[in-house]
Amino acid sequence: MKSEDSGTIAVFGATGRQGGAVVDALLNHKATVRALVRDPRSDRAQALAARGVELAAVRTDDPASLAAALTAVEAFSFMTPEANTLEEVETEIRIGTALVDAAVAARVPHVVFNSVFGADRERGVPNHDSKHAIEEYLRKSGLSAAMVRSAPFMEELAPKLEHGEIVLRLPLPEDAALKMISVRDVGRVAAALLLGIAEAPGGAVELVGDELTGPEIAAAFGARAGLPARYEALPLSVLPTDLDRAVFRQFAKAAEHPSDLAVVRAIEPAALDLAGWIRATGWTR
Ligand SMILES: NC(=O)c1ccc[n+]([C@@H]2O[C@H](COP(=O)([O-])OP(=O)(O)OC[C@H]3O[C@@H](n4cnc5c(N)ncnc54)[C@H](OP(=O)(O)O)[C@@H]3O)[C@@H](O)[C@H]2O)c1
Repeated sequence: MKSEDSGTIAVFGATGRQGGAVVDALLNHKATVRALVRDPRSDRAQALAARGVELAAVRTDDPASLAAALTAVEAFSFMTPEANTLEEVETEIRIGTALVDAAVAARVPHVVFNSVFGADRERGVPNHDSKHAIEEYLRKSGLSAAMVRSAPFMEELAPKLEHGEIVLRLPLPEDAALKMISVRDVGRVAAALLLGIAEAPGGAVELVGDELTGPEIAAAFGARAGLPARYEALPLSVLPTDLDRAVFRQFAKAAEHPSDLAVVRAIEPAALDLAGWIRATGWTR
């Protein structure tokens, strides 16, 4: 399918970071985009409309609104909202499965789910296992589907300037390489799969643009700032919840697995490594 010739591509979460990046990439391909939003009058929804994105008002607890919004679309991109408590994890699964049901009802030809790194199986991380459950539900739905499983976003890194030095602190051992991806590239890879420009080998791709240890991440920011840099590995106990601690335990474990960096580059040759992301975003200390 050529992007310019593609039918309408529906995007859930378009007013957020990942969905917004999917829309950016689709519009770069001159695709026709329909955003499924809960409030079409919000500033973010209106900003999308101003760029030529069609808006469809939906409620995730109203299957008819979802199925109507997915009528006659060529492909559907969805993510699920952040879950920080076990109750929110339940809500996340409910939203994800409702979106799959709606895609089935509307006979959507192809679906791309923005999942999370490691969601190929349950790993004891509630807000990752939720995505595994949604992946399984999607797989069993009979829809043609692909999963894009993002590593942590580079955008989450927050080094500080302290006494003329760049300091990065994370609850991650000093020798564990953190896999990471820019939100921009999450959107680019998802768009390529939605438009049929690329295929995910085996139906899924783990999104990694770089993998670096804490000291290497700090050094990349320090190099950009022209300042010395230091990494401090914090204990997991600094994190406020069991759920957060489970997430960071998983990040450290993921360091032991080989990454799909080459697959990502095959789909999006300009995928950013951390130094490239720091340059591209104009990050300053
Ligand atoms: N942070 C990371 O490093 C990372 C890495 C991998 C995966 N993830 C996963 O990424 C997800 C978050 O993605 P994001 O950062 O793109 O989220 P985000 O920027 O917070 O955007 C959330 C989007 O979901 C919409 N939304 C939320 N609740 C909704 C509801 N009940 N009904 C309809 N729409 C709803 C929001 O719409 P409104 O404009 O209406 O609010 C918004 O468009 C989480 O599942 C997280 O686990 C995060």
